[in-house]
Amino acid sequence: MKDTLVNVENLTRIFDVSKPWLNRVIEREEKKLLLAVNGVSLEIRRGETFALVGESGSGKSTIAKMIVGLLSASQGKIDFDGIDLFQPGGAEMRALRQRYQMIFQDPFASLNPRWRVNKIIAEPLRKFDMESSESARHKRVEELLELVGMSAKDGVKFPHEFSGGQRQRIAIARALSSNPEFIVCDEPTSALDVSVQAQILNLMRDLQDELGLTYLFISHDLSVVRHMANRIGVLYLGRLVEVADGKELFRNPRHPYTKMLLNAIPDLDMTGREVARPDGEIPNPINPPSGCTFHPRCPIATEYCKREIPSARNSEAGSVACFEATGD
Ligand SMILES: Nc1ncnc2c1ncn2[C@@H]1O[C@H](COP(=O)(O)OP(=O)(O)OP(=O)(O)O)[C@@H](O)[C@H]1O
Ligand SMILES: [Mg+2]
Repeated sequence: MKDTLVNVENLTRIFDVSKPWLNRVIEREEKKLLLAVNGVSLEIRRGETFALVGESGSGKSTIAKMIVGLLSASQGKIDFDGIDLFQPGGAEMRALRQRYQMIFQDPFASLNPRWRVNKIIAEPLRKFDMESSESARHKRVEELLELVGMSAKDGVKFPHEFSGGQRQRIAIARALSSNPEFIVCDEPTSALDVSVQAQILNLMRDLQDELGLTYLFISHDLSVVRHMANRIGVLYLGRLVEVADGKELFRNPRHPYTKMLLNAIPDLDMTGREVARPDGEIPNPINPPSGCTFHPRCPIATEYCKREIPSARNSEAGSVACFEATGD
């Protein structure tokens, strides 16, 4: 277990999406609960990029937020480098908090528009009391700006003076300023043009090599993940349905949902393969289907799949939660 940096066990998050109490009583409605993340277990190894993929609403951001502590878990356990993140503890938690950061999809929303870039990037340094003097902080900010491919002089500008790609570079510089080992990236390039996307992904990969970072990389786009991930976890309605080595997942997808997602990727290799849109709609998570929640969309579902919930079967190659999956 020593090369595991983050270990997530049976992570679950339930949202109460009921109407206010009085409305419920008058309209005689039951409480409505939404199971956004359902018993997810995974491990992220030191130095790797672990990607989480899945359609909108599958629970990707909810998992990310629980890992970085922006959202509490309803159940389960997260260990960071062997330390229980849900254990209350003052100084130790503070030291730990410095070791991971998050990058969001929309760099405009995540950067304070009234602050100059210098101040934005220096914020984690202040928060964690990392550089003692103002001039040391300033020097560190300049280094960080250059590290992400910008000019040290850009620090005096405001976020609105930059393009989307540059703003994401600023967000990356800020995330790196506390010298973290682990970065959770929630759709870091989804809001950017394709050409800019590639630049940011390359930057993230270079930084990973240079600084030995570990990434949890979240995306709904398998073609982006393909170039970034060492291992991939596929989420469907809050459940992890398959985990596999990145290359292996593309070569030999085992879960029918993974196969469906792969078939929907544009054929960049020009093999003449037909591109199929994913069949069916994602069910309402407040009232999910019985048994395996994928069964209404699944081409190989049996009567058994409508009744029973498949648990993950582990093997050398990873894990898959399907009664009918082949390719072991
Ligand atoms: N604060 C909240 N209150 C109630 N329901 C929520 C809340 N946050 C998320 N949800 C619900 O939880 C489910 C998972 O949402 P989440 O944002 O994690 O999905 P996602 O995979 O990140 O989707 P996307 O690709 O659209 O970002 C969805 O059904 C969503 O509506
Ligand atoms: Mg999301």
